[in-house]
Amino acid sequence: MVQMVQKNCFGQRIPPLVDFLDSDHFTEIFSGQLCQILVLRAGVNREKAADIAQDIFSIIRRRKTQQDAASAATALLAEQNLLQSLRGDLPDRARRMAEQVKPFLAGDSVLDFGCGNGEVGLALHEDGHNVTLCDILDRRSRQAHALPLMIIDSQSPGRLLANPPDTLLILNVFHHADDPLSALGNAAVQQAQRIIVIESVFDVETMDIDSAHWKILLEENPSVAFWLNLSGEQQLFYNAFWDWFFTQVVNGQPQTPFNYQRTDEWRAHFAGEGYHEMHRQWLGIDQPLVPEFHVLLVFDRDGEAEQ
Ligand SMILES: C[S@@+](CC[C@H](N)C(=O)[O-])C[C@H]1O[C@@H](n2cnc3c(N)ncnc32)[C@H](O)[C@@H]1O
Repeated sequence: MVQMVQKNCFGQRIPPLVDFLDSDHFTEIFSGQLCQILVLRAGVNREKAADIAQDIFSIIRRRKTQQDAASAATALLAEQNLLQSLRGDLPDRARRMAEQVKPFLAGDSVLDFGCGNGEVGLALHEDGHNVTLCDILDRRSRQAHALPLMIIDSQSPGRLLANPPDTLLILNVFHHADDPLSALGNAAVQQAQRIIVIESVFDVETMDIDSAHWKILLEENPSVAFWLNLSGEQQLFYNAFWDWFFTQVVNGQPQTPFNYQRTDEWRAHFAGEGYHEMHRQWLGIDQPLVPEFHVLLVFDRDGEAEQ
């Protein structure tokens, strides 16, 4: 068991997976959630799910690299015929996200930057919005081919749309981007009046969340309480663990760069691009599959009137 410490592009330490399992408390959290996911998504009974979780942890403890551990864990899930059921989004994911952003859309036109399969944009299109998709690759689902797609180069400044979009969405993109700040600059080139971001963040404390909102979060998802009791660093590891599990183990893709930042750090970068934060909403662990902790941020271009 070796597994290297790495740093993300912001200099944030991402420890080896095996370190995540040093604490019994942490192992218990992962085990509980992994069981929940296996039961919910793959219809496995609780006892078997608990055994599979333990097997995955012992793989992590024995393997030298994250990649080795991922390959062995993938093989284990494949042997149990569980991989297919863990892949893909839950059927209501895109709709749920569309509902999260809808109250903050500034007008009719939407550019979905880093759109992935385009399903969130598609849900907004079905609600009557004029949506253009944008990504570095065409990953559109069959249905999302109904929408126009702008392919951009992650390394060079973005092409301008003929008219700036009213709203630019950047949903779960930055921590997956090799160079999130270039991605941010690329997006800001579009000069949207409003930008809505959903990101996985860390270093969030209970006191960051006002009490009315806290009550709603807890009612919707009681598991948020345990997350806020983790240290800032543990919150980052927690997000990274699920990123590893779904990216490498379940989907067999190259590891994304764990480019997580704190919420206020994102706000500062947006300020540098000429956008001020006009609303912040803690979504918490709002997705049963890939249970990372999310915040929704709404930015307006400096000089624009706030709603
Ligand atoms: C986790 S997916 C999110 C997809 C979608 N926004 C959603 O929430 O369903 C991240 C997406 O960001 C895209 N991406 C990564 N780096 C990017 C960059 N520099 N510029 C634009 N998109 C990028 C990836 O290609 C991928 O489709």
